Amino acid sequence: MVGRSPSQEGTSKMNILVTGANGQLGNSVRKIADNYKQHHFLYTDMPEVDITDLHLLEDLVKKENIGAIINCAAFTAVDKAESCEELAARINVDGPKNLALAAKSVGAKLVHISTDYVFDGKSCLPLKETDPTQPIGVYGKTKRQGEIEVEKTGCDAIVIRTAWLYSEYGNNFVKTMLRLGKERESLNVVYDQVGTPTYATDLAYAIMVLLEKGFNGFNTYHFSNEGVISWFDFTKAIFEIAGLKTKVNAIESFEYPTAAERPAYSVLNKRKIKEAGVSVPYWKDSLVQCIKLLEN
Ligand SMILES: NC(=O)c1ccc[n+]([C@@H]2O[C@H](COP(=O)([O-])OP(=O)(O)OC[C@H]3O[C@@H](n4cnc5c(N)ncnc54)[C@H](OP(=O)(O)O)[C@@H]3O)[C@@H](O)[C@H]2O)c1
Repeated sequence: MVGRSPSQEGTSKMNILVTGANGQLGNSVRKIADNYKQHHFLYTDMPEVDITDLHLLEDLVKKENIGAIINCAAFTAVDKAESCEELAARINVDGPKNLALAAKSVGAKLVHISTDYVFDGKSCLPLKETDPTQPIGVYGKTKRQGEIEVEKTGCDAIVIRTAWLYSEYGNNFVKTMLRLGKERESLNVVYDQVGTPTYATDLAYAIMVLLEKGFNGFNTYHFSNEGVISWFDFTKAIFEIAGLKTKVNAIESFEYPTAAERPAYSVLNKRKIKEAGVSVPYWKDSLVQCIKLLEN
């Protein structure tokens, strides 16, 4: 089983275009790139490289002799998407489609990231890649349509659906809870939404494992960390690891209304990606690593 190990000797050199490279996942790819020194990474983000601009992308992949694209760019503001459907669709649907077309034009591979929000959360068993999708909000709908558009282009592409992403970078649940935990004596957190967090560093390694193995055609994989918890349990663990005494009250989702409804059950089945050689660390082990880095 390979996973966090640096790339194998003999893997052929690739010029890898990383889009949305200033986000959580993009920064996590940068962080691990030293383990893949035989490749050349080209990090891009807005405003210079806008994934909604097909011509720019086609020129870029040709000029830079790109062999693979890792798309970390997305419209990720789940609640805002409810009132910004057009913009969300441009970035989450047209964007990946453009990247797939640009990749196809030079015979490059595309790794595109999607989400557990393509499901309605009504399952009670870990979700497989083949389970029917049924997004319940605008963000999930646009992400699902993005997957479909990538597949339709016929480019060599992998879609990796992930969930509850956090990292040392940008804004995320772990960083918000660490801040609130230091400011407040108690917090209310929902216990009726269940899933598995994903440390973006682990996802970055998973991407590189699949890229280095190589692939043809279209395939979908699920990746999160291992285990099953609620947001309430996650918060308790964050505070415990960080040594914070903040009290956490378990509440139900109706007590914390948001513009976009969240899926109640978001656990992803990782059998397929494990069989492809990717290791899936336990959520708490990865959380400890991330909090250590944040506290230092
Ligand atoms: N965060 C989660 O909990 C979560 C859960 C499941 C799946 N995912 C998926 O995981 C992937 C990575 O998420 P993330 O949390 O790393 O996202 P993120 O931190 O929000 O980063 C996204 C990056 O994309 C950039 N971007 C936005 N529009 C762009 C455009 N038109 N062209 C180029 N770049 C653009 C953003 O720039 P600005 O900041 O300037 O907009 C930002 O730097 C996404 O596909 C997301 O849907 C995330």
